[in-house]
Amino acid sequence: MKKRINVTQSSMPPYEEFIEELQPVWTSRWLSNRGEASIKFEDMLKEYLGTDNLYLFANGHVALEVALNALYLEGEVITTPYTHCSTTHSIVRNGLTPVFCDVKEDNYTINPELIENLITEKTVAIVATHVYGFLCDVEAIEKIAKKHNLVVIYDAAHAFGVKKDGVSAANFGDAAMFSTHATKVFHTIEGGIVTYRDKERFKAMSKLVNFGFTSQEDIDYVGTNARMNEFEAVMGICNLRHFDEELAKRKKAGERYFERLSGIKGIKTIEIPSDLEWNYAYFPVIFDGYKENRDEVKAKLESENIFARKYFYPIVNKAACYEKEYGAAEVPVAAHAAECVLTLPMYADMTVEDVDRICDSILR
Ligand SMILES: Cc1ncc(COP(=O)(O)O)c(C=O)c1O
Repeated sequence: MKKRINVTQSSMPPYEEFIEELQPVWTSRWLSNRGEASIKFEDMLKEYLGTDNLYLFANGHVALEVALNALYLEGEVITTPYTHCSTTHSIVRNGLTPVFCDVKEDNYTINPELIENLITEKTVAIVATHVYGFLCDVEAIEKIAKKHNLVVIYDAAHAFGVKKDGVSAANFGDAAMFSTHATKVFHTIEGGIVTYRDKERFKAMSKLVNFGFTSQEDIDYVGTNARMNEFEAVMGICNLRHFDEELAKRKKAGERYFERLSGIKGIKTIEIPSDLEWNYAYFPVIFDGYKENRDEVKAKLESENIFARKYFYPIVNKAACYEKEYGAAEVPVAAHAAECVLTLPMYADMTVEDVDRICDSILR
């Protein structure tokens, strides 16, 4: 049997570099609660993401939940069903009602043309996902939000390192959340980052992260524990140093996929817009009218020790916990995507030979 190829593989910095960066944390015995490693990591990220209003979290989900919580909203939130359940959970766990809006055919992000029809007097926000690192139509969404006085939060879990016309994904919407989970394009083992546009809203959010403490003796808010620890911050420091090289390696693998899979009847890939610096976070392929369907292709790849993923599947409004209330939402494009998309293995250390083996298998 040929070597196993997983859908992803975490990027790792050189071991010696990690140990050297960890040494002061080890010696200080300051392992959490925003120590020196976290502060250094935050400073590096501020420069990289082009924003000062940035906070580190224990994971992406809790980051999104807290980013929304800090706005103290009540009512309905227009959102996408073509996302990780985390996006919807963050809405529902804040006592808000999700209203599912269908997605665009070109990149499966929320369709702004359908948003206005769903707005009622109860609508307070739009929470949308930059799917696979392809950005939502941020200008159109901003226009709608301004017109109806809505907050916009982006689930940018997939979009670390993505830029549109040179502007980082951190700078679109009122807030953006990046997951830095081990499977993500940039990781801190577990972790999340929230960026906020408005300084005052940002300050309100930062108060919730550490149980709502505002000083050693003052607990002014009903907060939570959502802190990143120092070992994770060290991983982030090291990985950020190597991020551009890792992106370049992903790009090489991605370009090989495009080369091998374009022009094949029944196979579609998502086109990279000319104004977008994409991060090759995933490699989604749409099997629509191919000689075998998506599930058959996935099974055959597995028989050859290659593991691709149905992602996103199921669409969130069809998940057991939401189906009864939201299963009937009219989202045909998202439903079709969930049936046809397979994300192929993608990580920085994939070789052109790995990509060729996967493509040969699909084409066979
Ligand atoms: C779109 C999206 N949102 C949120 C999350 C949750 O992030 P985390 O796993 O860091 O909690 C994920 C994780 O895969 C995701 O893909």
